[in-house]
Amino acid sequence: MITGSGLIETLAPRIERAVGRLPRRVFVLTSPPIWALWGEAFCSSFPEAPVTLFLEPGEKYKTMASVERLTREMMRAGADRGSLLIAFGGGIVGDVGGFLAAIFMRGIPYVQVPTTILSQVDSSVGGKTGVNLPEGKNMVGCFHQPRAVFADISVLGTLPERELKAGLMESVKSGIIRDRALVRFMEEHAEQVLGRDAKALEKVIAASIRMKAGVVARDEHDFGLRMILNLGHTLGHALEQATGYKVLLHGEAVGWGMVAALYLARQRGTISKAQFERLQKLVHLYGPLPALKLRVAKVVAAAGADKKNVGGVRRFVLPIGIGDAGVVEDVTPAELEAAAGYMLAQAAE
Ligand SMILES: NC(=O)c1ccc[n+]([C@@H]2O[C@H](COP(=O)([O-])OP(=O)(O)OC[C@H]3O[C@@H](n4cnc5c(N)ncnc54)[C@H](O)[C@@H]3O)[C@@H](O)[C@H]2O)c1
Repeated sequence: MITGSGLIETLAPRIERAVGRLPRRVFVLTSPPIWALWGEAFCSSFPEAPVTLFLEPGEKYKTMASVERLTREMMRAGADRGSLLIAFGGGIVGDVGGFLAAIFMRGIPYVQVPTTILSQVDSSVGGKTGVNLPEGKNMVGCFHQPRAVFADISVLGTLPERELKAGLMESVKSGIIRDRALVRFMEEHAEQVLGRDAKALEKVIAASIRMKAGVVARDEHDFGLRMILNLGHTLGHALEQATGYKVLLHGEAVGWGMVAALYLARQRGTISKAQFERLQKLVHLYGPLPALKLRVAKVVAAAGADKKNVGGVRRFVLPIGIGDAGVVEDVTPAELEAAAGYMLAQAAE
């Protein structure tokens, strides 16, 4: 994983170093708006321009149908088992590109060049790939590790403000669960980070990646420790589902979910009152999170259908102090309701 500024202008030699030799056929999966902004810079270091494959932006294109279309386009463009795929875009392009590479001719190598904060700090790290079904998000997929990931801070310059803030929620999460120093840095340098100062952003992104990579290295296939990465996700996913995936960006939903998790942690005494106030302030510092008008019962019901529930057990990640977290399986319906109530009362203001 390489983080820095201006990486996309020197991609080809970097990829060559990572995979051994630049394959004869290189494909890039991207979306039209990203290509319009960055395509020229992307191609500048390649001796021959890569074959471009497009995925329109939006969750509704993160489907099996898109993957089938893309495999056929690759076939027609002469792809073989020695081809390389580069996923150049946000988390959607990364997830679809990784899955496409995993199943095309039973697997070809791929490289991630993530272009959103969320995809740099979260989705490009860890090898989870996949697509959505009408029945649920990310329900089909597999683990397929990229050969290399190049997180270029300069491409974040064109990221819409709302996407930037939502992506930074995952870094707030990284600090809370594993990195006290990151929490402090994000508190003290919010202005620079939100102002896209390259040095400040790079520090936050590199620390978040380090944290996730460290956790994934100890639990690649998500049977234990990796669960702690889901802080804020139990009620976050429930909010996304209860609003039909149309109102909140993922990071915003996680932000609200973290508010609920902090409340529950405070009630159970795993964080002090001062820590509760400090961390809640940090979440809002990287907001504002969108207002919501939802019934507690609707959100609690949505939490019952979460993918992280195994065998009917509801798992919940709770911070322990600042920089540590644990998974609990004994959250009672009354506790869940109280946490959702606290979160929704704030979200309604
Ligand atoms: N695989 C994993 O471990 C993992 C983890 C977290 C999230 N995800 C997935 O990631 C997806 C969300 O990813 P995302 O938040 O990056 O959203 P996204 O891929 O939808 O990108 C957000 C928007 O920003 C635009 N964009 C991207 N980069 C840009 C740039 N540099 N300049 C201007 N515009 C740019 C995109 O075209 C899009 O409209 C979800 O599908 C989620 O399920 C996967």
